[in-house]
Amino acid sequence: MEFPFDFIAIVRKVNRAAALTGAGVSQESGLRTFRDAQTGLWAQYKPEELASPEAFARDPKLIWDWYAWRREGVKAVRPNLGHYALVEMAHRIPDFTLITQNVDGLHRLAGSPQVIELHGNIQRVRCAECGAIVEDWDDDNAAVPRCASCGGLLRPHVVWFGEPLPRAELESAMEAARNCQIFFSIGTSGVVQPAATLAYAAHNRGAVVVEINTEQTPLTAKADFFFQGKSGEILPELVKAVWNSETINGEQ
Ligand code: OAD
Repeated sequence: MEFPFDFIAIVRKVNRAAALTGAGVSQESGLRTFRDAQTGLWAQYKPEELASPEAFARDPKLIWDWYAWRREGVKAVRPNLGHYALVEMAHRIPDFTLITQNVDGLHRLAGSPQVIELHGNIQRVRCAECGAIVEDWDDDNAAVPRCASCGGLLRPHVVWFGEPLPRAELESAMEAARNCQIFFSIGTSGVVQPAATLAYAAHNRGAVVVEINTEQTPLTAKADFFFQGKSGEILPELVKAVWNSETINGEQ
């Protein structure tokens, strides 16, 4: 990928940057994006129909099982070069805020120093009644496990459609978007609010908006730079072009 000279010059001298990532960043690790068709057992459902409080109220076991299946999938995968390139960017840019909609924890696993997880983390579970965070539960049961203290059903500690985002995380993400000089939107369809507004908040405050995606999105027309392709390829190329540095896969 040839990056425009003015883009490289901007990234080299920038002090404050923010990046928002979505499911596309984990696609090359082997995880499906949300808006891909599902396969196998789950092919008959749309993720949007499973990731909601209404769905859980209607059929808690179905939703629990979908998350248990996804949790296993996440445990089996590793970060890819896109995740590692973002670690490198955080080391190169003095103030770099990484915001993710992903619940897979792969940015932390790759070693990103600070990650704002807007939609929670799939490995965590809480009681749907009393809200207690639960560390241990029995997944072999035929029924959804229950909270040891109040007996409520357990659910994933993630944000579902129609639920508010964690307040502190959303405020920090908004502040980073408003204060950054450059905003990267990477591997996200940009259709789920309020995460999707972050790029516009940055744009409205004069930040340079950069999009990396295999497809065009509603943001593309507003982006100052659009790099079409896989984030696991483009991000390491960007790191090399800007800082003449190789992305190190932390596991090697
Ligand atoms: P989506 O599945 O909506 O979008 C994934 C985006 O990644 C698409 O725009 C793809 O074109 C792009 N893409 C796919 N592979 C890529 C690759 N290798 N490199 C770069 N881009 C690639 O996922 P999100 O935008 O993350 O929310 O979805 C946002 C939210 O909607 C999710 O966090 C989840 C979901 O429903 C909740 O569950 C609350």
